[in-house]
Amino acid sequence: MQPFLLLMAFLLAPQAEAGKIIGGHEVEPHSRPYMAFLQVKRAEKSTKCGGFLVREDFVLTAAHCQGCTITVTLGAHNIKKKEGTQQVIKVKEAIPHPNYDPDTKANDIMLLQLEKEVKLTAAVSVLRLPNRRVMVKPGMVCRVVGWGRLDLNTRTNKLHEAELEIQKDELCISLYESLYNRTTQICVGNRNKIQSTYLGDSGGPLVCDNLAQGIVSFGNENGKPPRVETRISSFLPWIKRTMRRFQLQRPD
Ligand SMILES: *[C@@H]1O[C@H](CO)[C@@H](O)[C@H](O)[C@H]1NC(C)=O
Repeated sequence: MQPFLLLMAFLLAPQAEAGKIIGGHEVEPHSRPYMAFLQVKRAEKSTKCGGFLVREDFVLTAAHCQGCTITVTLGAHNIKKKEGTQQVIKVKEAIPHPNYDPDTKANDIMLLQLEKEVKLTAAVSVLRLPNRRVMVKPGMVCRVVGWGRLDLNTRTNKLHEAELEIQKDELCISLYESLYNRTTQICVGNRNKIQSTYLGDSGGPLVCDNLAQGIVSFGNENGKPPRVETRISSFLPWIKRTMRRFQLQRPD
């Protein structure tokens, strides 16, 4: 990382509002081809979220990214540009986990069934889900990817990522108390480092060894790590069951 950016991120981190990757760097365009940009329309106001392609017709994201309509853009690097690689697709069905609790953010996971299958290209491809045996362990370094803001004053239209270290569950239990559940969540981000994720990166993936292990969920208002992610490995049966069920409703 550039020393200048590091310093900027450090200076701006404490008062930064939620909504960005801090201490990260821009990725090589289209090097994270699974990334989905979500425009979420709501009655009150619209928001943005991240997500990731898990099958040609399904995107995985956080349940708190729910809205009246969601538009998915795949194959993007700069979301403000009309890039030839982009595929913009409407969501046919948004399927939040039935036990999602908006107050505690428990079970913060949602599948988006796309109106049509995406075309897999060099800029658009699937991120693999883990199997139950591949567990994340404290000390592992993973990465989060997103279009969230870099700091309070710097918006970015380009995809960024940051490296984050998996923490012991006890750390998040001590900070978040009963909001943290070690079975369904992962504690992410070293509190002594500035890399972190914020609300604008909600729904984006935590990628460990090229597998989707987490979904950015929530954290402390001040944006400091560690933060809480949904533990994908404990939702695999739900993900598989739900994709099968909704696929069956599709006309041939
Ligand atoms: C954590 O989540 C699991 C799975 O949903 C649930 O069975 C368990 O009761 C939860 N633990 C606590 C302490 O809430």
